[in-house]
Amino acid sequence: MSGIFETNNQDSALTIGGTRVSGQEVRSQNVMAALSIANVIKTSLGPVGLDKMLVDDVGDVTISNDGATILKLLEVEHPAGKILVNLAQQQDTEVGDGTTSVVIIAAELLRRANELIKGHIHPATVIAGYRLACKEACKFIADQMALKVDKLGNEALVNVAMTTISSKILGGYGTFFAEMAVDALKAVKTTDFRGKPRYPVAAVNVLKVRGASARESSYFTGYALYRPFTSQAMKRSLKNPKIAVVDFDITKTRMKMGVNVVIDNPENLEAIRKREADISAERARMLLDAGVTALFSTRGVDDVYVKMFAEAGAVTVTRVPKEDARRIAKGTGASLLTTLANLDGDESVDPTTLGSAELVEQVRLADDDVVVIRGASEQRASTVILRGPNDYMLEEMERSFHDSLCAVKRVLESGACVPGGGAVETALDIYLESFATTLGSREQLAIVEFANALLSIPKQLSVNAAKDSIELISKLRAYHAAAQKASADSPRSQLKSYGLDLHNGKLCDNVKAGVLEPAMSKIKMLKSATEAAINILRIDDMIKLLPEQQPEDPHAHM
Ligand SMILES: Nc1ncnc2c1ncn2[C@@H]1O[C@H](COP(=O)(O)OP(=O)(O)OP(=O)(O)O)[C@@H](O)[C@H]1O
Ligand SMILES: [Mg+2]
Repeated sequence: MSGIFETNNQDSALTIGGTRVSGQEVRSQNVMAALSIANVIKTSLGPVGLDKMLVDDVGDVTISNDGATILKLLEVEHPAGKILVNLAQQQDTEVGDGTTSVVIIAAELLRRANELIKGHIHPATVIAGYRLACKEACKFIADQMALKVDKLGNEALVNVAMTTISSKILGGYGTFFAEMAVDALKAVKTTDFRGKPRYPVAAVNVLKVRGASARESSYFTGYALYRPFTSQAMKRSLKNPKIAVVDFDITKTRMKMGVNVVIDNPENLEAIRKREADISAERARMLLDAGVTALFSTRGVDDVYVKMFAEAGAVTVTRVPKEDARRIAKGTGASLLTTLANLDGDESVDPTTLGSAELVEQVRLADDDVVVIRGASEQRASTVILRGPNDYMLEEMERSFHDSLCAVKRVLESGACVPGGGAVETALDIYLESFATTLGSREQLAIVEFANALLSIPKQLSVNAAKDSIELISKLRAYHAAAQKASADSPRSQLKSYGLDLHNGKLCDNVKAGVLEPAMSKIKMLKSATEAAINILRIDDMIKLLPEQQPEDPHAHM
C-alpha cells in the first residue's frame, strides 16, 4: 500500500511525492513523541522538582520550573509532540497552573492506550472508555473530593497559593508571597453583569525591580507606572484628578517632510512659525479647559506645554508604554485618545473620554520615582513589586507569582478546592477501578488503564522527592480504598484527604497540612489531557509530503 507514495514510482497513476505511515506504526510513533515530551518535563513536577535551563539560538537563557514555559521554548517538530505542547499552553491560559501534570497524564494515557490497541482492542473502544472514565472522574471530584472554601476560610486561600508557589522559586519564602497574592487579588474584586464576583488577574500589576532580596518585595493598592511626573515643578500628589490618556505628540508642530512654502515677506515666515507653535498650545489649552488635571501621554510633551500644565496645577506623565496606557484608560474609565478631531472637522475634548480616580501621586520606589494611581473609578488595581538579584530570577518569580494568582482566582470564583499531593489522583484510581467492574462491556479495560494512568502523578511526585514510590503509593491506595468503603459519618471517611508528604516521605492529611489545589484546575486538567490523548489516538495514518523540488537551473532567469 505504501508503495504508491514512493517518489520514484513513476508507473502508478497515484504517485504522490511523500511518505506514508499507517496503522500501528504511526500510533507507536506518536506515542513515542508524546512520551519524549513528557520525559523532558517530568522531573520538574512537585515541590521538590528540579528546574530546567534553556538556551535559545541567540544565547538567551531562561531558567524555569513551569511546564508551559519550558515546552514553549523547545522547538518541537513532531506533529503529535506539538499537540502536547499546545495542551500545556492551553492549560496555562485557561487555568494558569497544572501545566506539567496535564502533559504527564496525557502521555501516560497514550502509552497505556497504545498497549491496549496492540492487544487487539479497537481504538474506538479505548476512546469510548477514556471518555466515560473522564466524565465519571470529573463528577467524582465535584461530588466527593471538593471542599467548600467558605468553610475553610481565608487560610485555605493562602494555602492554595502556597501549594502552587511551593514547587517554584518562591517556595522558600514561606507564606510571604502566598499572602501577598491573596491580598493583591482580593483588592481587585469586581462584579460582572450577572452580579457574580470576578477577580481579574490582569488588574494585578507586577513590576520587577532588580536589586535587593526577594523578601523586600512589596505590595500596595493602586496602579503603579514605572515613570515619574514630567517636571519637578509639578505637584507630588493630586486628589480626584480628571485623567486624559493620549496617544499623540504635544510638541511643536512641524510641516511634513517635503512640503515647500515659498514666502516673499519675512513677516509671513514669522507668522507661520508662530502658528506652528500655536497648534499644540491650543491642544494643551483645550485639554486644560476641559478640566484635565492628569495627562498620561504615550508620546512626548514639549517643555513649553509642560510649563503650561504645571502652572495650571496639573500633572503630566510622558512616554508611558502603550500597554500601561491601555490599562490606565480601562481602569479609570478614560479612552485612549489618538486625536482630538471631532466629526465637524474641528478639534475638541469630549468630556466622556476622560477618566477619574481618587488620587494620583508620585512615590519613591527603590532608586526610582513612580507614579501611582489609587482608587481608579472603573477597576481597582493593585501593584506587586518583585525584587530579586537578576533578570532570570525576576522572570521566574513573576511566572510563579502569576501561577499563584491564577490558582487563587479559580478558588475564589468557583469556591472549591481539593487536597493535593496525589490525593485526588489516588482516590480516582480506586473509584474508577471499582466503577469499571460495574460495566460489562469492553470499555472496562480502558477505564482501568485510565485509572492507573492517573497514578503517574503521585508516582512522579515521590520519585522526584527521592522517596520510595512503590511503598508510599500502595499505602495511599489502601487508605483511599478504606475511605471509599467507609460510610460518610465514620472517621475512616476522612482518609480521603490523605496524600503524600514529600518532605518527610510519609502520608498525611493534606487538608490539615494545607496542601490544597483548586478543584477546577484538576477537572480542567483531566478533561484537556483526555481530549489531547484522544486526538492523537484517532490518527491512524500520517502522510508527509516531500517539500517541492525547485528546478535546478543555475540560470533560471528568462
Ligand atoms: N507540599 C506539597 N506536598 C505534596 N505535594 C505537593 C505539595 N505542593 C505541591 N504538591 C503537588 O505538586 C503538584 C504540582 O506540581 P507543579 O506545580 O510542579 O506542577 P504543575 O502545577 O502541574 O505545573 P506548573 O506549575 O509547572 O504549571 C501537584 O500535584 C501538587 O498536589
Ligand atoms: Mg504548579
